[in-house]
Amino acid sequence: MPGPKGTYDVLPGAEFGALAVVREAMLAPARLAGYRYAEAPVLEATELFARGVGESTDVVSKEMFTFPDRAGRSLTLRPEGTVGVLRAALDAGLHRGQLPVKLRYAGPMFRAERPQAGRYRQFQQIGIEALGLEDPALDAEVVALAWQAFAAVGLTRVRLQLTSLGDAACRPAYREALTAFLVGLELDADSRRRAQLNPLRVLDDKRPEVQAQLTGAPVMVDALCVDCRAHLAAVQAGLDALGVPYEPAPRLVRGLDYYMRTTFELVHDGLGAQSAVGGGGRYDGLAQAIGGPAVPGIGWAMGLERTMLALAAEGLGGPQEPGPAVFVVPLGSAAKACAVALVGALRTGGTPADLAYGERGLKGAMKAADRSGARWAVVLGERDLSAGTAAVKDLTDGASTTVPLDQLAGHLRRLAVGRERDDR
Ligand code: HAM
Repeated sequence: MPGPKGTYDVLPGAEFGALAVVREAMLAPARLAGYRYAEAPVLEATELFARGVGESTDVVSKEMFTFPDRAGRSLTLRPEGTVGVLRAALDAGLHRGQLPVKLRYAGPMFRAERPQAGRYRQFQQIGIEALGLEDPALDAEVVALAWQAFAAVGLTRVRLQLTSLGDAACRPAYREALTAFLVGLELDADSRRRAQLNPLRVLDDKRPEVQAQLTGAPVMVDALCVDCRAHLAAVQAGLDALGVPYEPAPRLVRGLDYYMRTTFELVHDGLGAQSAVGGGGRYDGLAQAIGGPAVPGIGWAMGLERTMLALAAEGLGGPQEPGPAVFVVPLGSAAKACAVALVGALRTGGTPADLAYGERGLKGAMKAADRSGARWAVVLGERDLSAGTAAVKDLTDGASTTVPLDQLAGHLRRLAVGRERDDR
């Protein structure tokens, strides 16, 4: 029986089987930069997203999984991670401590979208949020970490699109200018409603008949106030200093309403329609919008499934779950007891090890060793046991060495440590 529409299963060898390894690899640069692990509930009060993400967005108006709990309170499966992580940080008062508050997170998000390649109803994001400061150097760090997350898994065809959406000082005038421009266009009732709620959202309409009319539309970057212009220039200078390439994206519109100033998206050209592998930006008004104090913030989130599809599009395997270093093949019951003890000792000492379970002959057990992805197989036969030795076989070149049993665990540990050093 398959799972619900728009969901998938993570299993070894399945399409997204490497999800956990990709997730950790992508978050590693943020971890090194001091972003600490955070987890907010998957369920939140519906009102939190309505106020935070914005009523004019498709996410809130059409895509949330919302239901009453048993006491009749409206709950929603989180469609994104920022609002919940921010709520949690504010609730805990982290913004009154050392700033910026740097957080990283990962987990499933839920949007009732029409499923297609790269678009799911339950999907996995990783993200970071930096709270409490408006320093453009922090913006540059956050954007650079987004870039490095993709570099960490080996992707080379990701493009970074960057713009500024202005702030409370300059956006209202721009909004008016855009609204005045939109009034003159032939738009359907739905677009007119959107234009009233948030005119920027109309710029994001993908329909060719709408896009054709938008050619001369005013853009925010041309209408930035002095402060926003200086902020954007400082972010760009920071990215230049960090060697992160970006493309100006004056028409960039994000699917969530909370952005201001620095706003960006990461796209991959090998993905077809769902080309956004990640996105983020500054949300200095969000904390207040959800009923908290004025705490600025900036962050991003990446879609793990699209990242893995991008890896496939680039012909890359991406990071994989490593197999055991050692696989032990016991032949006979005395050898089995010895193998169980050996594997136990190796694991306790930190060496990944496994053994052939079940009653298998040498051929079947060696096949299991190969399939496990192990580097070394240890063959323990009855004759080896009585001679007090074991055969250690290097599965990459087939070379075999005889090792005394009392030195076996130490010998294998040294081999495994040597390999780890070589891998680094
Ligand atoms: P978002 O752009 O809505 O931003 O989502 C981030 C990424 O999640 C997208 O670029 C895409 O890769 C992935 N994604 C979104 N929807 C789906 C879906 N239905 N199926 C598969 N993947 C999907 C946010 O969520 C913001 N919270 C990012 C942020 C953090 N902004 C500031 N801090």
